[in-house]
Amino acid sequence: MDRYAVIGHPIKHSQSPFIHHQFAEQTGQAVDYQRLLAPLDGFDDSLNHFAREGGKGCNITVPFKTQALDIADELTARAELAGAVNTLHLLADGRWLGDNTDGAGLVMDLKRLGFSLNGARILLLGAGGAARGALSPLLAEQPAQLVIANRTPARANELAQRFAHLGNIISAPLEELGSHFDIIINSTSASLQGETLSLDSQVCHAETKVYDMMYGREETPFLTWAREQGLEHRFDGLGMLVGQAAESFYLWRGVRPDMMPVLEALRAQLE
Ligand code: ATR
Repeated sequence: MDRYAVIGHPIKHSQSPFIHHQFAEQTGQAVDYQRLLAPLDGFDDSLNHFAREGGKGCNITVPFKTQALDIADELTARAELAGAVNTLHLLADGRWLGDNTDGAGLVMDLKRLGFSLNGARILLLGAGGAARGALSPLLAEQPAQLVIANRTPARANELAQRFAHLGNIISAPLEELGSHFDIIINSTSASLQGETLSLDSQVCHAETKVYDMMYGREETPFLTWAREQGLEHRFDGLGMLVGQAAESFYLWRGVRPDMMPVLEALRAQLE
């Protein structure tokens, strides 16, 4: 049985083993997938140990995604652009290929939910690692414009410049976002502190679709804000979690699992 793992610190609450075991069962693949807690100063050692024990690939989560980028022998273009690696895949010659499936997972979920990205005006809130990972897959869908805004404006400016060659992307101050976005995506971790950004109600129109990369048992503060604006199309990031896992599974096994039954099972566990 081929061995895989998710490496992070903390790791106890990771849903990845559940998701990948479901994928394996669904597709008839012989896969074992475990949680691996690496010491904060011991990511490299943990990964090497896992490889010596026959590990074929792993997912990387907080706080090791940048270290995984450094340790990878080869990178996919999207991992290089994201500046972070969430998936390592052992190549036949023993080298690690680093990939980043977070943004692809987001786009997969947005499409599943009926978002039309092509030609849309998109507002992306936040300019941390989650935003950066999402930018190249989002711009590949050719939105009319992508506006990125952040509490610390300099980080949004930097990302807008770095990704300018991939499409129409600009940064804007949170107080002057402009109006009537078709899609608003929250990539900030503000809701972890129970907060949300204060946005002018002009940013949306009646049909605006909103997506929060965060999820939880309770409605996130950003989705509460959207409900208070009267917006009907509001979604949390549970599907992105399953989508990024499906993309990792495909990289490792060459088979695309069906995300729906797994997403439904996870949703039922949350409720
Ligand atoms: P991640 O990898 O999850 O994106 P990160 O790189 O630490 O984590 O980025 C967190 C993002 O959430 C940033 O955009 C951060 O804004 P700053 O760049 O100004 O720090 C944003 N964020 C976190 N807490 C926030 C809050 N309470 N209000 C607004 N934005 C917040």
